[in-house]
Amino acid sequence: MTSEPAVVHQLAVDRVAALDPHDLADLCEATNAAIVEGGGFGWVDAQSRASLERHFRGVLLVPERELFIARLDGEVVGSAQFVRPPRNNEAQGFSANLTHAFIAPYARGFGLARLLVRRVEEHAAGLGIRVLNLDVRAAQTSAIALFEGLGYVRWGEHPAYARVGGETVTGYYYYRVIELSHGRSTADALGQIKGN
Ligand SMILES: CC(C)(COP(=O)(O)OP(=O)(O)OC[C@H]1O[C@@H](n2cnc3c(N)ncnc32)[C@H](O)[C@@H]1OP(=O)(O)O)[C@@H](O)C(=O)NCCC(=O)NCCS
Repeated sequence: MTSEPAVVHQLAVDRVAALDPHDLADLCEATNAAIVEGGGFGWVDAQSRASLERHFRGVLLVPERELFIARLDGEVVGSAQFVRPPRNNEAQGFSANLTHAFIAPYARGFGLARLLVRRVEEHAAGLGIRVLNLDVRAAQTSAIALFEGLGYVRWGEHPAYARVGGETVTGYYYYRVIELSHGRSTADALGQIKGN
């Protein structure tokens, strides 16, 4: 009996400052597919193409926000946003948020989300960011497994985190300590924190 050779997929993550029409269309399609499957990154109902395009074009314009896109075999299938505090918030300038992370259902299970999160962490470290924060709905079990597997520490639970399908749902809050490739360790810079 002959067995089929395993398909090797090409995984890629890019930080983008602009999106061409083809990539924007794929990103909107991936977003709606993820929303319909259960969302977990803000939207509850599928959105029109125009409103998703407005959202992503807006993301690209916000100075504190950066967009990372995930590609499977060249096609955009997911994204994540990296958000720094505004410049007046000096006290929290050492930290940033990872938000709106998702991979379309048809591209899951290939390791793209892990690569996406790791790329955002590398970018954060390059900017001197020492703590990355994020939050998820308690029902997002795949995301919870992903982030806990990557070393994120759950520090809080909010019983009125979001409203989904007419119900109030719990959310979990996480952080991860980031080590920079140069200079002082994060323990030296911030003091000892659980997770560093
Ligand atoms: C969570 C999500 C991003 C994972 O995407 P993905 O590309 O399939 O994840 P990966 O293939 O990179 O998996 C990495 C790890 O995540 C965890 N994971 C991913 N899918 C999982 C699942 N269905 N069940 C359990 N663990 C899962 C595993 O720990 C996995 O590591 P392993 O393959 O070594 O077991 C995707 O399911 C998703 O978009 N969900 C909806 C949106 C969401 O919840 N976003 C996060 C909140 S903003």
